[in-house]
Amino acid sequence: MKISSVEDIVAETRRKGFVQEEVDPTLDLFAEIAELKRSKRAVILAHYYQDADIQDIADYIGDSLGLSQRAAETDADIILFAGVHFMAETAKILNPHKKVLVPDMNAGCSLEESCPADKFALFKQKYPQHKVVSYINCSAELKAMSDVIVTSSNAVSIVNSFPKSQPLIFAPDKNLGAYVSKVTQRPLLLWDGACMVHEIFNHRRIAELKAQHPEAELIAHPECEETVLALADYIGSTTGLLRYASQPGRQSFIVATEPGILHQMRLKNPGKTFIPAPSDHACACNNCPHMKLNTLEKIYLSLKYEAPELEMSQELISRAYLPIRRMLDLSAELGL
Ligand code: 13P
Ligand code: SF4
Repeated sequence: MKISSVEDIVAETRRKGFVQEEVDPTLDLFAEIAELKRSKRAVILAHYYQDADIQDIADYIGDSLGLSQRAAETDADIILFAGVHFMAETAKILNPHKKVLVPDMNAGCSLEESCPADKFALFKQKYPQHKVVSYINCSAELKAMSDVIVTSSNAVSIVNSFPKSQPLIFAPDKNLGAYVSKVTQRPLLLWDGACMVHEIFNHRRIAELKAQHPEAELIAHPECEETVLALADYIGSTTGLLRYASQPGRQSFIVATEPGILHQMRLKNPGKTFIPAPSDHACACNNCPHMKLNTLEKIYLSLKYEAPELEMSQELISRAYLPIRRMLDLSAELGL
């Protein structure tokens, strides 16, 4: 298709999910994006799994909890979300009247996909006494069917906030659910979903690497399988891993999560050693293919054309708001 007008760009963006236009390679994208942010009163929220250059132009970099808290607070007119679709949806639910831009609408999530809302509704019907605790990595439809949302930073504390006698469903991540169940010592009815990035770590190869680097601590995200978590010296969300690695006196780490986090780990801790944990295959499979769809060029074009814009029905926003609000309020009460 020949692109000749803004209308063409909007039509093509709808079709492809991102703005397609050749970007002049001599442009200083850092300066251009900074100017667009200033003139449009836009804020860029980026997850730790983004490429280093995207983290460098972001106004805020964080884990899923930090990003939702920041989205709830911002007074910017436009939020550009450098992350994946469910994160942008959360920002929109918290800011129904703001423009939320997603540089590439195709940036999904295997956890979200593993739990289709219609199948979950049937599952939930079978357990009318259970309350539903859903990991934020899910669709807005699933959030709307949940009693409370959690992230990897607050899942243990929020599950503990329910009376022990209250039966709970935990969706959609079975690995995080099993970890939370173990720490809280209460049974959780788990949905059978998983993150394609964290499931791929190989515990045997990690054990070999630990033997080669006995000085290194294994730090792992709770989306990893139990066999990997069993080897870990510390388990936490991306923010938790970064804080742990930044403690004085700790020097060397094998990192079992998406390697985007290594950028901040190295920036904040010059002189410390960070070794990415090996996966099952000799490939870069631990890069999240969804997160990595975002590029500096797409962010520039997205801000320039204010597209693709995330649109959600007011009805869905209203249904999904309360479980997210509960999470934010409980996190504030718990000092998280
Ligand atoms: P956190 O941001 O809670 O660490 O979760 C990691 C993740 O997989 C986000 O998609
Ligand atoms: Fe989803 Fe896993 Fe990618 Fe996070 S890292 S967005 S959970 S696929």
